[in-house]
Amino acid sequence: MARWWVCGVLSLLAVAAAAAAAEGNAGPLIRLPAQKGLDAAAAPAPAPAAAAEEEGVTRWAVLVAGSNGYENYRHQADVCHAYQILKKGGLKEENIVVFMYDDIAHNPENPRHGVIINHPKGKDVYAGVPKDYTGDQVTTENFFAVLMGNKTAVTGGSKKVINSKPNDHIFIYYADHGGPGVLGMPNLPYLYAGDFIKVLKEKHASKSYSKMVIYVETCESGSIFEGILPQDLNIYVTTAANAVEYSYGAYCPGMNPPPPHEFLTCLGDVYSVSWMEDSEIHNLKKETIKDQYDVVKKRTSSSDKVNPGSHVMEYGDKTFKDEKLFLYQGFDPANANKTNKLVLPSLEGAINQRDADILFMWKKYERLNEGSEEKLRVLREIRETVVHRKHLDSSIDFIGKLVFGFEKGPSTIEATRSPGQPVVDDWDCLKRMVRVFESHCGTLTQYGMKHMRAFANLCNNGVSEAEMKEASTSACDGYSSAKWSPLVLGHSA
Ligand SMILES: *[C@@H]1O[C@H](CO)[C@@H](O)[C@H](O)[C@H]1NC(C)=O
Ligand SMILES: *[C@@H]1O[C@H](CO)[C@@H](O)[C@H](O)[C@H]1NC(C)=O
Repeated sequence: MARWWVCGVLSLLAVAAAAAAAEGNAGPLIRLPAQKGLDAAAAPAPAPAAAAEEEGVTRWAVLVAGSNGYENYRHQADVCHAYQILKKGGLKEENIVVFMYDDIAHNPENPRHGVIINHPKGKDVYAGVPKDYTGDQVTTENFFAVLMGNKTAVTGGSKKVINSKPNDHIFIYYADHGGPGVLGMPNLPYLYAGDFIKVLKEKHASKSYSKMVIYVETCESGSIFEGILPQDLNIYVTTAANAVEYSYGAYCPGMNPPPPHEFLTCLGDVYSVSWMEDSEIHNLKKETIKDQYDVVKKRTSSSDKVNPGSHVMEYGDKTFKDEKLFLYQGFDPANANKTNKLVLPSLEGAINQRDADILFMWKKYERLNEGSEEKLRVLREIRETVVHRKHLDSSIDFIGKLVFGFEKGPSTIEATRSPGQPVVDDWDCLKRMVRVFESHCGTLTQYGMKHMRAFANLCNNGVSEAEMKEASTSACDGYSSAKWSPLVLGHSA
């Protein structure tokens, strides 16, 4: 393990050194007077550089933290941090739309009231973040309306939308839980890839941007785009994980580096902090989209079994990867003299996103006083959560066997399609299957999103809604879903 990292670090250094040598200059400090005016990066930039760079190009951004609850601290921390980077980069507040539930900073569990951090030694990233869409306004519907620039379709919130023009650039960053073909939202229903791609196509057809860059961190995030995002929409995407794997929390209790002692929860996510920490230490007028993809891919990848990781992926239009990052994330004049030589430390012992909330509950349990009522309450909560998860897992397994037979059930229902193919062909069918299941077996919850592939496989194998209804009844009849009932929680689809 240690050796791998030494090699990894060495090779990164070598690449950086070679790149510097190839540039053939001794660094940004020495330059000919004639160059001065041409290179805004090195010149002192008194005003935020953004507006002046490219006449008539506005940079827009949509930032989405798709979860709520203190155990999901990290997603809102990621999004607040991203806001600070873009703001420092000169994007205007009116051009950045933030979706976050906003239940973290002032949460009673938060050891630093009114503050959110995204790094063990990090400063507050919460102050100044606009509350465009918070609480029950954080919905798939509002996200789509904002992206389309359609104010009348927005419910509640600041009504800030992406009112972009044909030359404009759009940057979207989404941090959350997810599953095959689906991204989470704190208010149901979830965001389905089929709908997202449809909206992106509409946005493209409306000719209201020139290029778009999308970063997504969730489990199975590759499945949102794989096999369905066309290459001719001028949209470039990177995702934290491929279509069939977890993504990972960062700065979690037990990791190296750990969060400060008083935090029982993860402060960030590996892919997310990797791109942001990279952006913060580079001159984004020199770093390309591709450079960042390479660095983030390396830092996020698995080194061994002890230190798991995920495969950062890219989708869509790869023809403009050589563009500089500042065209999307802006440029912080304070980074003007930073060169591409800084190597980020590794993140060891990352926690997969689906276990992060259970980890939080256990940490909380361990710290509570023996025999206290609160300790018993937390224990009960852990047990109920684990029991509901097992119930979901076994119901899906049961349905698979009922529909496809005892032998073929498990392999058919869990089958992954070959790379390049979407999770499902009929997205409406997928939603219908989810609704039928939830009506009988209880709401999927953020954990249950992992079973989207099973529902997709029912559709891919031509199983009818009636068959699914019968199987779900057989699997879950008599199960008292109580607090997990869709009557209480709503449907995921
Ligand atoms: C905006 O949303 C409203 C309400 O959903 C819809 O009726 C209208 O057609 C949309 N406008 C555009 C330009 O898409
Ligand atoms: C970058 O270097 C130039 C030239 O030495 C200097 O004038 C400028 O203040 C430096 N900028 C920053 C942010 O350090």
